[in-house]
Amino acid sequence: MALSIHELKDTFTQVFGGSDDVKVYFAPGRVNLIGEHTDYNGGHVFPCALTIGTYGLIRKREDRTIRFYSINFDKMGIVTTSLDDLTPSKQAGWTNYPKGVFWTFEKRGYHIPTGADILIYGDIPAGSGLSSSASLEVLTGIMLRDTYGFDISMTDLALIGQYSENNFNGMNCGIMDQFASANGKKDCAIFLDTATLDFEYAPIKLPTAKIVITNSNVKHSLVGSAYNDRRRECETALKNLQTVCDIKTLGDLTEAEFEAHKDVISDPICLKRAKHAVYENQRTIRAVSALKENNIEEFGRLMNETHVSLRDDFEVSCKETDVLAELAWSIPGVIGSRITGGGFGGCTVSIVKNESVDTFIETVKKGYKEQTGLDADFYVVDIGDGARELS
Ligand code: GLA
Repeated sequence: MALSIHELKDTFTQVFGGSDDVKVYFAPGRVNLIGEHTDYNGGHVFPCALTIGTYGLIRKREDRTIRFYSINFDKMGIVTTSLDDLTPSKQAGWTNYPKGVFWTFEKRGYHIPTGADILIYGDIPAGSGLSSSASLEVLTGIMLRDTYGFDISMTDLALIGQYSENNFNGMNCGIMDQFASANGKKDCAIFLDTATLDFEYAPIKLPTAKIVITNSNVKHSLVGSAYNDRRRECETALKNLQTVCDIKTLGDLTEAEFEAHKDVISDPICLKRAKHAVYENQRTIRAVSALKENNIEEFGRLMNETHVSLRDDFEVSCKETDVLAELAWSIPGVIGSRITGGGFGGCTVSIVKNESVDTFIETVKKGYKEQTGLDADFYVVDIGDGARELS
């Protein structure tokens, strides 16, 4: 945490005046270990919550005004809106995320009678694909739940966040990011079946290795629209398959079933997308079993396969993240490495043997600079708890 609770409260006082009745909350970002682009295909995912994320301070007001201030976007100053005007707008910038959560509460019948003053601060690197927006949505949800006294489960807060992102912010994301931010658990990854929302915590005991996130520091434009395209392509493939298979989602198919029926998918692009979704789901199930058997080498091998599938079939990688993965694969002591999250830039996640972490960072840093002219950033990951009150 780059700022202490004390410093956050001081800033709240400077911006909004006084901080006596203010409560402080935190919601984490996430990294996904395996199971990419499966969460809107009824498949499995395996993310964990990070110890970096988004902090929020909230105080109820007497009127219908909502005032937002972000330390990260301080140039925007205080952004004022009203409970009676919850519509998205370009000028509203980052506040569209919390506004969307207020809007979703109302839509779901959780009536919010008065506004609030809200201060936000995040320590997730911008545009890194580590779910800063999902953490902001879950953070807003937990703050509203507690401040206005609603009884809402953490999973429902995740669903509210996802609904808001889909319908207020126009990004048709799945449930993974909000779910991980809401339900994360220290030192555990979450093995989530997105078809049922059943999940189990899998302890990540890696005494001889570390999880390292490498930020490519690139975010390609059209992330939202290319993501929504992928989702549509998967839906088209599913419709084709449903003419011959009794399935609800692509996650219902094994690889063999897919191979037996794939010819009904007429569009070659949709075919590639569906292949990734089916194989990635099965890979995730297998990877979690391998981890339970302490077969970390197999887990790493499957992570590498995921990268190749995301690169060649799902086509959400890019030159920079391919360079990062290929450099990682060439280093002895790297158990597995792949692009993580939605794609089109962002981060890779790697499992690296303890004694190789320094070499990994040096080699990837140097090779990445040589091949792309860019600087990569590295984070050795701690797995943290889900959203909660801090004060
Ligand atoms: C983004 C979305 C998630 C998920 C991943 C890809 O992070 O928000 O719902 O689809 O991409 O696995």
